[in-house]
Amino acid sequence: MTELVRTREELAKACAALTGTVGVVMTMGALHSGHETLLRAARERADHVLVTIFVNPLQFGPNEDFDRYPRTLATDLEACRRAGADLVFAPDREEMYPDGEPRVRVNPGLLGEDLEGLSRPGFFHGVLTVVLKLFQLTRPDLAFFGEKDYQQLTLVRRMARDFDVPVEVVGVPTVREPDGLALSSRNRYLSAQEREAALSLSAALRAGVDAADRGLDAGAVLAEAHRAFGSGAAGARLDYLVLTDPDLEPGPVAGPARLLVAAWVGATRLIDNAAIRLAPRS
Ligand code: PAF
Repeated sequence: MTELVRTREELAKACAALTGTVGVVMTMGALHSGHETLLRAARERADHVLVTIFVNPLQFGPNEDFDRYPRTLATDLEACRRAGADLVFAPDREEMYPDGEPRVRVNPGLLGEDLEGLSRPGFFHGVLTVVLKLFQLTRPDLAFFGEKDYQQLTLVRRMARDFDVPVEVVGVPTVREPDGLALSSRNRYLSAQEREAALSLSAALRAGVDAADRGLDAGAVLAEAHRAFGSGAAGARLDYLVLTDPDLEPGPVAGPARLLVAAWVGATRLIDNAAIRLAPRS
């Protein structure tokens, strides 16, 4: 049975009754099969699975989609039930931020100002602040985050380590449509034509991975990825396409690396990434 709680008090009471390990999956709702994969990963590792559903206003810029972000609690609860979640915490804004927006926010440091942080100033301050609050409220042993939001996963991991939060942060591989499009709650904004254009992101990643598998160096891998992005259906506007090391430090030249892409498709901003292995330099 999946229990829904809306207040901190109800949450504390429900958590106190749990014995064994707790795995948390934090979401903003609009759950899709990518989230269900996170829930299943949590189910496999933890005795109890707790899902949080909260559209966090702190992580939306003034011109972003906070108002139109899909809010689908009834179907989200169905998905949680299907995936065997024990507890869903779905607070409203006043419950999360009873004193209004917090004056003190988690500073993500330099990494939070790069990539997504460059295009979305303040985004990671908002994400890490709510994630830290949710860690405090839910006290999980394990926390599951999708690799699709790779910079978020990296920063949450760093925050847990740097702030001694006693939680294991687990990354879960991205779920894709059969044609390669990474699942995202924002895909529902795309028209049929835009959805076609959105395939440029995964095509760029695939080309980069293939090039690395053929032993090409970092420069050539990036060039192949750019070429594939550019030859997709018209309509995707590139924000960034970069190669970093797996911890998002700039400029790997050999070994494990990450290829990350962000692009605008119409009014929708999409991101994606892939693990890559660069050949050793000869
Ligand atoms: O990835 C998300 O859905 C959000 O950024 C998160 C982690 C739930 C924080 O609001």
